[in-house]
Amino acid sequence: MRTVDWDPQGYVTLIDQRALPAEVHILRLRTAGEVADAIRTMAVRGAPALGIAAALGLGLSACDSTGATAEAVLADLESAAAELRAARPTAVNIAWAVDRVLRAAGEAAAGGIDRVRQAVLEESRRLADEDVEVNRRLSAHGAALLQDGDTVIHHCNTGALAAVDYGTALGVIRTAHEQGKRIHVLVDETRPRLQGSRLTAWELQRLHIPFEIIPDSAAGSFLRAGEVAAVLVGADRVAANGDVGNKIGTYMLALAAKDNAVPFYCALPTSTIDLSLPTGEGIPIEWRDPGEVLDLMSAGQPVAPAGARARNPAFDITPARLVTAFVTEVGVLRAPFPSALASAVKEASRP
Ligand code: MRU
Repeated sequence: MRTVDWDPQGYVTLIDQRALPAEVHILRLRTAGEVADAIRTMAVRGAPALGIAAALGLGLSACDSTGATAEAVLADLESAAAELRAARPTAVNIAWAVDRVLRAAGEAAAGGIDRVRQAVLEESRRLADEDVEVNRRLSAHGAALLQDGDTVIHHCNTGALAAVDYGTALGVIRTAHEQGKRIHVLVDETRPRLQGSRLTAWELQRLHIPFEIIPDSAAGSFLRAGEVAAVLVGADRVAANGDVGNKIGTYMLALAAKDNAVPFYCALPTSTIDLSLPTGEGIPIEWRDPGEVLDLMSAGQPVAPAGARARNPAFDITPARLVTAFVTEVGVLRAPFPSALASAVKEASRP
């Protein structure tokens, strides 16, 4: 099943990622507010999945609106959009998807309320379908970078769970595996929420792709030992100059890859590129509850003395100079990144 989907009976379904790997639990959400809450609490996470969840949340808002005119329905959509945009700040895919749906709704307004509802549902479902297609295309481009027998390091979770289906950086690994290449994955556990060991390992196991989980702090020593052919990560937002906002720990991984002359690939749909930001300095970094650090996964098992304080930035910025190439649905982009990223966005937006 898809990680995020629209049920024709009028609700959004999500695989609740907080319950994995112990349990596959499906959430059925009936309002845009419930979708925003699922985003805030990370029942759904991963940049592309967040964008599509927000878009489908607007579908719920359009169905629920009691506005008597098309303008009133648009106003309800705007207020749902504001809540969804604010739910998590770093992944630009939320704003990107919400803007696409609002534009479709605005263009349909002259046709009346029913036309607005229909346009919102059609556009949000189209985005969901496109996400799968885009991931498959970028994965095929990226798989060409991997050779039979390669060991790769992967950070966070960028698989089907982080998208509607298939995945980005993990999609690249998946396609290489499907092509018959023997790929071994060193899975960064990705503290503090453990998206690597909880989610990526779960996906790799189901796909029968060989892997071992490593502590994040061990990645550098594996790179230095010469065991690793490539590092693969996703992105939550890439600025116009190629600076990458991604899961905390990405920067240190990129530094260690550079020091050991190992290629560092960042796989992403072009919807994750934010050309409005000249550099990564402008990427908003989400800070999460220090409890995630002090009490692993809030599981009631403290890993620090009572009263200890913690700081918990969920993302960091990796300077463009540490990136070997971006893998997108329109191809593999190499430096100079400003022109390559701008052309990729333009090409992807062609009808
Ligand atoms: O906090 P998360 O789990 O939403 O962070 C996700 C990541 O940083 C992923 O690596 C990134 O979104 C790419 S997902 C294809």
